[in-house]
Amino acid sequence: MRTEYSGDGLSESELAPTPLQHVRQWLTDAQARQAERGDVVEPTALSVATVDADGRPNVRTVLMRFLDARGPGFVTDLGSAKSTEILATGGVAASLTWPAMYRAVRFRGRAVPIGRDEIAEYFVTRPWGSRISAWASDQSRAVADRAALVAAYERYAALYPDTGAPDDVPVPDGWGGWRIDCDEVELWAGRRDRLHDRLVFTRVADGDLDTAAAWTVHRRQP
Ligand SMILES: Cc1cc2nc3c(=O)[nH]c(=O)nc-3n(C[C@H](O)[C@H](O)[C@H](O)COP(=O)(O)O)c2cc1C
Repeated sequence: MRTEYSGDGLSESELAPTPLQHVRQWLTDAQARQAERGDVVEPTALSVATVDADGRPNVRTVLMRFLDARGPGFVTDLGSAKSTEILATGGVAASLTWPAMYRAVRFRGRAVPIGRDEIAEYFVTRPWGSRISAWASDQSRAVADRAALVAAYERYAALYPDTGAPDDVPVPDGWGGWRIDCDEVELWAGRRDRLHDRLVFTRVADGDLDTAAAWTVHRRQP
């Protein structure tokens, strides 16, 4: 099966002055499209690629929970495979893909731990059951069977019962998040005959994702 990509494309004149502004606009477009047409499920789904200490690549999907001038960020278990790989090499790449819109964003850079205050602020917004799971799951490590996982969940549920208060479950020390301090942000827009548009912001100076002078733009062949 072949699908012709009939997207609007992306021209230099349409590009926002900074990577943050452009990514935010595309994310807003994706969320609006999901609300209207329902064909961009989980618009913040972010594929995160890492490399382990032996140079073996790995990839998985998370949700982009943060996006600001410091970079996109996600929450996870700090003892998980992805966190272990990040700690080993520091390098990380990630992509948002919205196939229904023929659009994708690619981030490359270094992973930076998200501060504990920010993590605590975010943790209380999660439903009680998700907060209990953060305690019950030693993410990425083997477990004998599902029953063992459920037993761990029930143990923590009894320890930290749902009182309706935001702080009824403490933040596990081993749970946190990573932000990508980007040195490259690529915007990809699919077009007819595979002649796609690729505009790439590359960091050339100090400054964050919303500092125009920190970035240069070039077009890459599709
Ligand atoms: C749509 C979707 C969203 C997910 N969101 C997260 C997330 O925000 N954080 C997370 O740690 N895992 C999330 N997961 C699970 C990860 O894909 C992965 O299984 C888990 O993080 C373990 O990865 P690792 O063993 O490579 O560390 C999500 C999976 C999917 C399919």
